[in-house]
Amino acid sequence: MAYTVPKLKDWSAKALDKAGAKLLAALEQESTAVKNKADWKTFRDRWIGRKNGVLTQINDLWLKAAPKDAKRDVGQRVNEIKQQVTAGVEATAFPEGQVNPRIAGEGRSVLSRPASRGVGTVTAALDISLPGNRRALGAEHPIIKTMNEIVSVFRNLGYSVEEGPEIETDYYNFEALNFPPNHPARDTQDTLFIANQESKPLRDRLLLRTHTSPVQIRSMEKMKPPVRVVCPGKVHRNDAPDATHSPIFHQVEGLAVDTNITFCDLKGTLDHAMKALFGSSVKTRFYPSYFPFTEPSADVQISCIFCGGTGYRDGGRCPNCKASGWIELLGCGMVDPNVYRFVDYDARKVSGFAFGMGVERIAILKYGVDDIQLFFNGDARFLEQFG
Ligand code: DAH
Repeated sequence: MAYTVPKLKDWSAKALDKAGAKLLAALEQESTAVKNKADWKTFRDRWIGRKNGVLTQINDLWLKAAPKDAKRDVGQRVNEIKQQVTAGVEATAFPEGQVNPRIAGEGRSVLSRPASRGVGTVTAALDISLPGNRRALGAEHPIIKTMNEIVSVFRNLGYSVEEGPEIETDYYNFEALNFPPNHPARDTQDTLFIANQESKPLRDRLLLRTHTSPVQIRSMEKMKPPVRVVCPGKVHRNDAPDATHSPIFHQVEGLAVDTNITFCDLKGTLDHAMKALFGSSVKTRFYPSYFPFTEPSADVQISCIFCGGTGYRDGGRCPNCKASGWIELLGCGMVDPNVYRFVDYDARKVSGFAFGMGVERIAILKYGVDDIQLFFNGDARFLEQFG
C-alpha cells in the first residue's frame, strides 16, 4: 500500500523517530520502482513537490499541528527528514536512458549518500536498510559466578558473608594465624610485600594478603561465638603466571566457631558443599596435612569428576587425577587453640573449624578449563560462553 503521511497524536522524540523511520523506509522502497525519467519526475513530485508533496504534508500535519512546547524539537526533526528526503530524491535522479543505479545492482540505498547541499546535522551516510547497532549483553565473569555459587551453598547453611582488605598487615595475614616470625610456613605463601617499611614493627608491615584466612581473625575480633562466616575475595602471591598459576586469584574462606564443634561437623559440612558444587555422586576424603592455624589439618580431596573416581577412562589412565581417582581441592582443619588467644576467645569453651578453597581451581574443574590465564586475559570469545 502506498505510504500516506499520518496525523500525529504523540509528539515525543520516540514517536517522531518512529514516524520518521517509517517515512524514510517508504521513500527507500518507492525509489526502487523508479525505472525512467518519467517515473523519477512522478517520484520527485510525490515527495518534494511544493503543492502536495510528502514534505509539504509533514510540514502541515507534523510541524504546524504540533503543540507549542513541542514545536522546537519537532521542527528540528522535520528539518532533518526534509534533508534526507531531498538527498534521497536527488540520489535517484539519472539521465534519460540510464538505469537507476540502485536497480542496476550497486545495492546502495538512496539514503546512503551524504546530503550534498546539507546544512545542519544530516551529512553522514545513513542506510536505513542496515541492521542497527546491537549492544552486546554483558555476562557474569566465570570466577565471580563460581564464587557466588560457593558462597550461596554456605549461605543456605546459615553462614553470613564477611570481607577484609586486600592490603593486609603481617599481623592478620600471619602472626594471629599462628605463623610465628621467621617460621618456615611463611615461605609457603610467596608473599608480595609493600616496599620501604623496615622502620615499622614487623606486625604492622603491609603486604598483599596471600590468603583470605586473615578475615577469620577480623571476624572473630568483631563478633562473639557462635560464628559462621564465609569470606570471599582476591588474594595475591609472588607466582609467575602459567597454565596453573596466577599471581592474583580468589579464595573463599570459611569459619565456624561454637561450643562442641567437632571434626565430624567439618566433614559433614564440606562433604555437603562438594556435593552441592559438583553433583551428589561426588565423594570426599580428608587427607592429613599441615596449616599453622588448624590442628589437626586436612586436605580435602573429591573423587575425580572426570573418571568417576576409577582412575581410568577412554581406555587409559585418567590424566585429570593421574589415575589416582582423587583430586585435591581445599585445605581445612579444626581451629588451633593458639588462634583463639589472639581474639580473646576462651579455647576451653569453644571449638571450631575453618576451611579455604581456591575459586579458580573449582571453576577449572567445573567447566573443564585447561588454562587459568583464560580467566584473566579478557578474551570475550571465552568469557561469553558463561553468559
Ligand atoms: N589459607 C590456606 C591457603 O591459602 C587455605 C586454608 C587451609 C584455609 C586450611 C583454612 C584452613 O581456613 O583451615 O593455603
